[in-house]
Amino acid sequence: MQEQFLDLFRFDEDLAFDDLYPRYIKNLSPTHWTPLNIAEKASEFLAEPNARVLDIGSGVGKFCITAGFYNPQTEFYGIEQRQDLFLHAELAKTNINLPNVGFIHGNLTELNFEEYDHFYFFNSFYENLKPENGIDKKVKTSAELYNYYTDFLLKKLDQKPSGTKLVTYHGSKNQIPSSYQLIDNSFHWALKMWMRE
Ligand SMILES: C[S@@+](CC[C@H](N)C(=O)[O-])C[C@H]1O[C@@H](n2cnc3c(N)ncnc32)[C@H](O)[C@@H]1O
Repeated sequence: MQEQFLDLFRFDEDLAFDDLYPRYIKNLSPTHWTPLNIAEKASEFLAEPNARVLDIGSGVGKFCITAGFYNPQTEFYGIEQRQDLFLHAELAKTNINLPNVGFIHGNLTELNFEEYDHFYFFNSFYENLKPENGIDKKVKTSAELYNYYTDFLLKKLDQKPSGTKLVTYHGSKNQIPSSYQLIDNSFHWALKMWMRE
């Protein structure tokens, strides 16, 4: 990480960070990308030396980049279905030069969950229920897809070993397997920290 980027990560300086991206991406930030202070808090719980953390639906990489900046000994990966968002994430990561951050372009259903130890989830499937509040119209959305992705993720998380950590931001309880216990919360319950029993 390079010294000249320290200013981007100042607590509550989201506007400066969002300047890394073009205007249309910046405009989406308040609704769709994790704020810096939330990402810092979430990653504090998820980070462990040599662990691999996955952001399920990584957008333009704001969570992974912030988490990677604050936790250099942990690897943060993101999977993103929209190609333009994935490319913006790659570009931002390359500019900041964070060796512990990586992005994958694809659908989370194609991913090998065994390669990841802990997980971050910012209500990524919600646009299937409220497409009018979504990022754009580039992907198919439907209530069926919401159920399909939710069931898929529930199964994958449930298959993880005891001690697996999960942080949800604006998530709902029906997206958490019953095998996960609520450990903590922050930001008036918007951020929840879970652990597999
Ligand atoms: C609310 S945004 C969060 C972005 C990022 N995690 C952050 O916190 O800044 C959710 C993202 O999940 C992506 N997404 C939704 N369903 C997905 C799927 N099935 N596979 C991959 N990405 C998905 C969306 O395209 C969107 O960019």
